[in-house]
Amino acid sequence: MIQIFSNSLGKEELKAVEKVFESKWVGAADVTLEFEEQFGESIKSKYSLSFNCATAILYGSMKILNIKPGDEVLIPTVNFIGCANAIIDAGAKPVFCDVDLNTFNITPEEIERKMTKKTTALLLLHYGGNPVAFDEIKEVSGDIKIIEDSCNTLFSKYKDRYCGTLGDIGCFSFDAMKILVTGDGGMMTFQDEEYYEKTLQYRYLGLVSKIKSGVDSLQEEKKTWWEIELGCKSGRFISNDIISAIALEQLKKVDGFISRRKKIWDTYKSELKDLDWLVLPPEPYENCTSSYFMFWLRIKNGQRNEFARYMVDNEIYVTFRYYPLHQINEYKEFSLPLKNAEEICDTTINIPIHQNLSDKDVNYIVDTIKNFRRNK
Ligand SMILES: Cc1ncc(COP(=O)(O)O)c(C=O)c1O
Repeated sequence: MIQIFSNSLGKEELKAVEKVFESKWVGAADVTLEFEEQFGESIKSKYSLSFNCATAILYGSMKILNIKPGDEVLIPTVNFIGCANAIIDAGAKPVFCDVDLNTFNITPEEIERKMTKKTTALLLLHYGGNPVAFDEIKEVSGDIKIIEDSCNTLFSKYKDRYCGTLGDIGCFSFDAMKILVTGDGGMMTFQDEEYYEKTLQYRYLGLVSKIKSGVDSLQEEKKTWWEIELGCKSGRFISNDIISAIALEQLKKVDGFISRRKKIWDTYKSELKDLDWLVLPPEPYENCTSSYFMFWLRIKNGQRNEFARYMVDNEIYVTFRYYPLHQINEYKEFSLPLKNAEEICDTTINIPIHQNLSDKDVNYIVDTIKNFRRNK
């Protein structure tokens, strides 16, 4: 079976992990700080703090931005469930928004329609690696907070800035299905110093980060060095040096992953463009770049499910990301009809696009797609 997600974890990552083992300290320390610094530099983010996963960042962003019961948070419905869960967990109301039929991204027009006096934040997703129309969104959303789910947009650029640095908080994932893979892990990015201490506390039990290590306290001639000061009450969402050692190696390879993905994207676009029963994904807006995290097809004539079955029967794994949140029973109290998302959900399929696909795999995928209707 040709897989839809893959990774390039190899000898380099193993060697880096071995070094961490040899150091006899596997918790978050210098390697994690180094990863945070290098990641921040690579996307030009002032602050980058690693987490154990991106879902923890989504939950944390609600606390850090003071999202409270009674608040409304706008969220595109074609989206990851953790985003809605985080909003509801904060006591706020998720306001599901429709998306553009081509980009699957939230639009400024829909934001304008759904904003009320209670709207305090927008949690947006750049679908599939393709940046949203950020300037236009900012113009209509005014001073509400913006959380950018950048889990699809590693190194995607909106004009001269990287996704994840456009809004108040950016959120990246390094789980098994992402471009940069560490098994699990995430990075929160933000540009405002105000969030720094709050995030450090949220990430680690609420402990005030100024607490010095025992040795540092000794140097200050303190008699005891084990007192605890809490700034808030929180869980524990930190990363560690094993994960960060893998991440640093992956960081060196990511440009190569993305350029291979772009090559596959371009092949799909040129090879499939004449099939009149397909709608292909659009290119990024002018002056924007994509990470090419996902490739998607919209199948006309009600044949999506048949097409999906046909692909799997031909050993090509396909799926659909992301099942619209407003159609999930658990969220039914927040549900409302959203026409484009429903059409997307009925017609779309994601096909494999990752750096481990060989040219032979890509040709096989293209030929298999082309043969779908020939067999009828
Ligand atoms: C868009 C999006 N946001 C957030 C997440 C959560 O990432 P993590 O698995 O690191 O918690 C995912 C994971 O699939 C995702 O696809």
